[in-house]
Amino acid sequence: MAETRHTKNLKVLVTGILPGRAQEILADFCDVEANRESRNLSKSELISRVKDKAALLCFLSDSIDRDVIDAGQELKVIANYAVGYNNIDYQYAEKKGIFVTNTPDVLTDATADIAWSLILSVTRRIIPADRFAREGKFDGWNAFLFLGRSIQDKILGILGMGRIGSAVAKRGIAFNMEVIYHDLYKAPANMEKNLKARYVSFDEILEKSDILSLHVPLIDKNRRMMGQKEFERMKEGAFFINTARGELVDEKALVEALKSGHLAGAGFDVYEREPEIEEDLRKMENVVLLPHIGSATVEVREKMALMAVENIISALKGEKPPNSIF
Ligand code: DGY
Repeated sequence: MAETRHTKNLKVLVTGILPGRAQEILADFCDVEANRESRNLSKSELISRVKDKAALLCFLSDSIDRDVIDAGQELKVIANYAVGYNNIDYQYAEKKGIFVTNTPDVLTDATADIAWSLILSVTRRIIPADRFAREGKFDGWNAFLFLGRSIQDKILGILGMGRIGSAVAKRGIAFNMEVIYHDLYKAPANMEKNLKARYVSFDEILEKSDILSLHVPLIDKNRRMMGQKEFERMKEGAFFINTARGELVDEKALVEALKSGHLAGAGFDVYEREPEIEEDLRKMENVVLLPHIGSATVEVREKMALMAVENIISALKGEKPPNSIF
């Protein structure tokens, strides 16, 4: 943790409740105004409350657009409590000389674990099987009860081989899967060797993957990168997993690919119009839906909060924050 110093003339807005000691540490350093309600601040609340603040600690559900940034005349840093920062107009913040920070690394394993929870749940039909057992319908072993699909010796496609993509690939080795990946750039040879992963084109990853897991950042050119054409190109009977961002996917096209039976199933932690979830998806038995809990462990969320606070404290001390995105 950065060494702290009481500087009550510096004001910070925290848009929600932080776990652990993070807020206390921040309050030792500056004057903290925190939203203590369990709801997001509206745009007009953000605008009026950010006005006299030197720092903003926000969540991925807060949209920090130009209007909010312009209202924050004193802002020196916007610290996102997430690794993805598509909720912030970071290019505009950079132009205005405001640091934008995120919380990388600490949530990599937790998010990879959630991707794998989805892979296993959807291929082995865990959710409907659990429901069946709870409803008292289990009346004896049956050779055909909840048959799923094996993943051993199948192909795991990783779209986006960054920190989380690599952690998902690494777990694929333990499950005896063949791993292929696509990204803007080919990974260094030693990384490919360690992950036993082979670089393929975008078309090839769609055509070959039995399970395709999405791990690219949400930037403009990736928006809806998975649409009707891409789902049609996927292997018949494949599974699709998204723990990255919902807007990478044309959800209606995905619903069609599932309805037609072209895809065997899908697992999601994120949604195109989050927190709204397509009605059709909610009705499907071959789909597992999670409420954006990729990083949701006690340990990880506390580390993320400490990181965001550390980023703010260093920026307010006039230093470059450790997790500045530029
Ligand atoms: C992030 O931090 O960007 C993740 O989506 C959290 O689950």
